Amino acid sequence: MDATAIILAAGEGTRMKSNHAKVSHKILGKPMIEWVVDAAVAGGCNRIIVVVGSHADEVRAIVEGSRSASVARVECVEQTERLGTGHAVKVALEACAITEGPVVVLNGDLPLIQGETIRLFAESVADGAYAATIFTTTPPDPFGYGRVQLGADGTVERVIEQKDCTAEQAATLLECNAGCYAFDGAALAEHIDEIGCDNAQHEYYLPDMVEILKRAGKGVSIFHCDDYTEGLGINSRAQLAQLTAVARDRINERFMAEGVTFIEPTLAWISPDAQIGRDTVIWPLTIMEGACVIGEGCSVGPNTRLTHVRCGNGCSLDETVAIDAVLENDISCGPRAYLRPGTHVLDGAHVGTHVEIKKSTIGEGSKVPHLSYIGDTTMGAGVNIGAGSITCNYDGVNKNPTTIGDNTFIGSDTMMVAPVNIGSNAVTGASSCITKDVPDGALAIERSEQRIIAGYSERKRARK
Ligand code: UD1
Ligand code: CA
Repeated sequence: MDATAIILAAGEGTRMKSNHAKVSHKILGKPMIEWVVDAAVAGGCNRIIVVVGSHADEVRAIVEGSRSASVARVECVEQTERLGTGHAVKVALEACAITEGPVVVLNGDLPLIQGETIRLFAESVADGAYAATIFTTTPPDPFGYGRVQLGADGTVERVIEQKDCTAEQAATLLECNAGCYAFDGAALAEHIDEIGCDNAQHEYYLPDMVEILKRAGKGVSIFHCDDYTEGLGINSRAQLAQLTAVARDRINERFMAEGVTFIEPTLAWISPDAQIGRDTVIWPLTIMEGACVIGEGCSVGPNTRLTHVRCGNGCSLDETVAIDAVLENDISCGPRAYLRPGTHVLDGAHVGTHVEIKKSTIGEGSKVPHLSYIGDTTMGAGVNIGAGSITCNYDGVNKNPTTIGDNTFIGSDTMMVAPVNIGSNAVTGASSCITKDVPDGALAIERSEQRIIAGYSERKRARK
């Protein structure tokens, strides 16, 4: 199918009461507009046009930086005046000179529609039987949706916006316009100028195309989707929270079907772009953002947030926050570990309690068990970092590197003042401040001699 998608994302989103574009608000860590763009791409649309307007730069940056933009033709056009959804589509058609082919129009606030559904739906106009098909659902609460009026023969007659409905229409017309349409591009381009704005909101309503096309003698059908959640739109923060819960359940149910255990599936928020291997256990209060890849047989959480993390098999991440980090296999982390961008932990390593690591490699089987900061460091295999040891990587101007060779033992509370190289099989004495390179196999110790002052306590008491 050679379809174009037009995604409407120029609106003010007034009901969100936000300083940001409505479609920039995130669901499971991913901006709403990206969900829609991804669904359009998954649904077989090979050209995506996003209509931006309110907070245009913010929306454009999200769209252009999305993963979809690297696999499909994704472009933005600007609707400078927000005159309604019909006007937004006209702007897109004119800017991109679209005059034919299937055109799928999607509201930018329709994040839960699935690619496969779009594909089925768009085929309804691809064969030429209809000039337009409108995607409908019957949500439990139809308030706010345009209502689809069906004729006695069951065919669609028109869509009446909530604000234009009589009380009786609002109460009896339960078939809702989800804000997703498939058009024959030629019919759409030919008739788009006929949309007027004689309505409650004085806007150009895209759904008015139903009546216009019918008047022109063209066929219009509805595509009813039984799963009303696919048609849920977001206009308010309450709806944002409701849809987040629906998305979370949908994703967690899929992972459970694939062999992932959730201790409490309502308390784990997993990105739609994450992958999790079988027999991994997800503990409560786990959040995964972005394209996390977690292997098999891992234990993740509780209280863990992973952002763009890749993790092999058999790892345990307990109360861990990790961002742009790579963990190989059989690694244990936490409780209370903070792995910042550029962290690479090799097989069998251990990162313990109150440990922060940045832009560093922790070698195979090495251990950083307690209260350490390791930054800009390349660490070999079998290293042990004593409690409280720190790489002093920042001199106030530059970040400097530290290297630590294989099987080296760093005594507790060692300060490694970078740039510094510590060889392999070396040892540092506890509480040493290491400012010079340490050769292989050497002991480096930097601390003053201990003094013993005998009888001190007794004399102190006597003075009192
Ligand atoms: C719209 C539909 C309604 C449908 C509902 C589904 C119209 C007139 N009504 O109502 O029938 O049931 O969606 O959720 O289409 N936008 C622009 N430019 C504009 C105006 C809006 O790009 O000038 C964009 C918005 O950013 C939004 C989308 O179009 O993503 C829908 O606009 P919104 O104001 O949310 O429409 P609804 O009132 O929800
Ligand atoms: Ca809406």
